[in-house]
Amino acid sequence: MRVAVLFGGISAERDVSVASAAQIMSALIGLGHRVEAFDLAKGRLSPADVERVMRAKVAPVPPDPVRLPTAALAPRLVEELLGVDVVFLALHGGAGEDGVVQAVLDSAGLPYTGSGHLASAVAMDKDIAKRLLRASGIPTPQWVLLRPGADPGDIAFDGPVIVKPNAQGSSIGLTLVKGRKDLDDAVRTARLRDADVLVERFVPGREFVVGVLDASPLAVGEIRTQSREIFDYAAKYQAGGALEIFPADIPAAVDKELRDLAVRAHDSLRLGAYSRVDFRMDHKGGIWCLEANTLPGMTATSLFPQSAQAAGISFPELCERICRLAAR
Ligand code: DAL
Ligand code: MG
Repeated sequence: MRVAVLFGGISAERDVSVASAAQIMSALIGLGHRVEAFDLAKGRLSPADVERVMRAKVAPVPPDPVRLPTAALAPRLVEELLGVDVVFLALHGGAGEDGVVQAVLDSAGLPYTGSGHLASAVAMDKDIAKRLLRASGIPTPQWVLLRPGADPGDIAFDGPVIVKPNAQGSSIGLTLVKGRKDLDDAVRTARLRDADVLVERFVPGREFVVGVLDASPLAVGEIRTQSREIFDYAAKYQAGGALEIFPADIPAAVDKELRDLAVRAHDSLRLGAYSRVDFRMDHKGGIWCLEANTLPGMTATSLFPQSAQAAGISFPELCERICRLAAR
């Protein structure tokens, strides 16, 4: 197949996207596909730029907040992509994950991996996604959305909360707040990344993830953050940043419950070929769905490939299946 790997762009998760693209490209090349590399914001990459992508490392901290320029897409990108069999989306955050790129590719008749434009938009907006989860009977921690100008002082505060930008990934701009005095600062931090801020009840307990591929759940994994309180950006992308246990050491009934809930969450948001669904389990065994990620990380330390691997699907096979699901 002639596969265009599309990554980069101008989102705060650009670095993560570059790291995902490097893994995906080497897997696809190893499988014998004809691979072409495109940066969403720059267009087709030169061989020297591809070399740089293959060597890039995710920095321990995310890039500084940037105001997105109005044009996230390189001027002749769609023209350059015409004729490929599939566009493999190795994009995270911003226009790459929120349905905008998917809609552009739809309008050009280009097949692409992952979820469609509506599902991508819905899942990227955590508030809207949580409303749909709740309407489908999938427990999700109680939350408040602070629209621009809303005063955090109006929130009834009775315990730890997670404050995060409403449409952002990789824990960027996210803070665990334990006392009201820290709420304003956390909201300010989140607002640097998104005008809308989600304040969500923190669920003390354990954290699990489940990959979903072609309507079936993959293996459940548990994240143990060790000395860190939360699974933050550094823990996500630096080797050894957290203990990630695949398959999770849990009773069969809990494993089944998590896998069933993952597929229900995936379906309730009308997601496509694959996703990774994130959960917390409270001290009484109650399971809470945090969100579903439509373009989960595919870096060397990412969770979705580990969920697949523990289900017997190697990384190259995973990339192959994702491509085939898009091209069919
Ligand atoms: N947003 C990151 C890439 C993830 O969900 O893995
Ligand atoms: Mg996410």
